[in-house]
Amino acid sequence: MLKKKIEEICNRQIEREGYSSNLYLAMASWAETNGFSGIADWLYVQSDEERLHMLKFIKYVNERDGSAIVPAFKKPPVDFAGVEEMFKEVLKHEEFVTASINEIVDLTLAEKDFNTHSFLQWFVNEQVEEESSARLIIDKLRLVGKDNLYQFDRDIMSLRGPASGVSAT
Ligand SMILES: [Fe+2]
Ligand SMILES: [Fe+2]
Repeated sequence: MLKKKIEEICNRQIEREGYSSNLYLAMASWAETNGFSGIADWLYVQSDEERLHMLKFIKYVNERDGSAIVPAFKKPPVDFAGVEEMFKEVLKHEEFVTASINEIVDLTLAEKDFNTHSFLQWFVNEQVEEESSARLIIDKLRLVGKDNLYQFDRDIMSLRGPASGVSAT
C-alpha cells in the first residue's frame, strides 16, 4: 500500500502530466491554425505521449492500492509569440517536469519506498530524452532562421526518435 505522502505526490504528477498533454495540444492547435502542419503533427504526438505518462501514474497509484485522482486542468495559453518562442516554452516546461520527477524520486528515498523509486526510473530516463529533443529543435530553429520555417515545418517529424511512452502499460 502506498504511503499517503507518496500517493499525494503521485497525484500531483498526474495533474502535471495531464496539463503537459493539454499544453502541447494547445500548441498543436496554434501551430495548425498558423499554417505549420508539420509542427502541429509533432505536438499532437507529443500531447498523446504526455497523456500516456499521466495514465502510467494513474495505473501505478491504483495498482498499489492508492486512489488516483483525475484533476481539473488549468487552461493552457491560446497564443504563442512564434515557433521558436513556443519551443523555448516546451523546454522550460520539460525542465519543470524533470524537477518535479526528481522531487518524487527524492521523497521515495526519504520514505524508503523502493517500488515507487523503481517505477520512476522510466520517467527519469524519459526526461533526459524530452529535454534533449526540445533542445535539438531549438538548435535547428536557430540554424534555419525565421525565414526558412517552411522547410523546418516539412522536416520536423524526422527529428522524432522511436516514440516514447507508446509502450506505457
Ligand atoms: Fe511527461
Ligand atoms: Fe514531456
